[in-house]
Amino acid sequence: MGARIPSALVVAALCSVASFGVVAQEKDDAAKGIEAYREALKDGNPAELFEMSGEELWRKPAGPKNVSLEKCDLGLGAGKVEGAYAQLPRYFKDTNKVQDLESRLLTCMSTLQGVDTAEYVKARFNTAKKNDLVALTAYISGASNGKKVKVSTKHPMEKQAFELGKRMFFYQAGPHDFSCATCHGEDGRRIRLQDLPNITKHEGALAGWTTWPAYRVSSGQMWSMQWRINDCFRQQRFPEPVYASDLTVALSMFMAANANGATIQTPGIKR
Ligand code: HEC
Repeated sequence: MGARIPSALVVAALCSVASFGVVAQEKDDAAKGIEAYREALKDGNPAELFEMSGEELWRKPAGPKNVSLEKCDLGLGAGKVEGAYAQLPRYFKDTNKVQDLESRLLTCMSTLQGVDTAEYVKARFNTAKKNDLVALTAYISGASNGKKVKVSTKHPMEKQAFELGKRMFFYQAGPHDFSCATCHGEDGRRIRLQDLPNITKHEGALAGWTTWPAYRVSSGQMWSMQWRINDCFRQQRFPEPVYASDLTVALSMFMAANANGATIQTPGIKR
């Protein structure tokens, strides 16, 4: 896409061994640099390519039954894509589960297309099967761009998922005794010059939730929220979570409900 890296970013990276007094200033410059970089990239977000291939996958007959996903019910009725993502995760009667977009897609692939979704759950990220799911999330979330997050915690199972997600968010364990909140529960935290949103507050949850799935410039990959969470488990030195499992959905429920009322800006673009 030929986006240029603003010089502030490069300067900030080169100056990392400067004396103590100017460190705060440099951090600010770096943050500004990264912000400018984001702005420049918004003009041509490569995520659009994933949206396009996601739409193709949505419409293409596939699987043993050779049926498309177009009749998939994402919560607003069969085939209704627009605005659906803004209200996920949610409780679904047919599965008697709270589902996020990715677990719901697995349900539709299984019921409509006859696909063995265990293969999709097991597949590594950045392989064909997972990339298909990510592309689908790019397309479907894009159809909620500009909509307000409206996630319900009224149904007892939704409430339960929210509470489980909250507990998990603050659950400290592993070799470093980290929880999600260790990195995402305070204002102004940073790792490797990245501002880490305080997801326990509305403003942070807003930044953390409404801009995913996102294209990550550093890796040249499109990531879904399940992928994001999976990588944060790694950063937390926790065992790898099962893709689309109830626990990962619960974490999304916690973050999404904290972001209620914020505007969806998907697909996003990240460092
Ligand atoms: C050791 C620190 C660490 C822990 C623990 C951690 N994360 Fe993260 N998280 C990060 C970093 C670093 C980033 C940003 C990466 C980047 O910008 O490339 C991030 C990004 C995120 C984002 C996207 C934020 C945004 O602004 O786009 C979400 C959402 C998130 N983490 C959720 C979680 C959840 C849920 C947990 C607990 C399961 C968790 N994280 C645990 C370090 C951590």
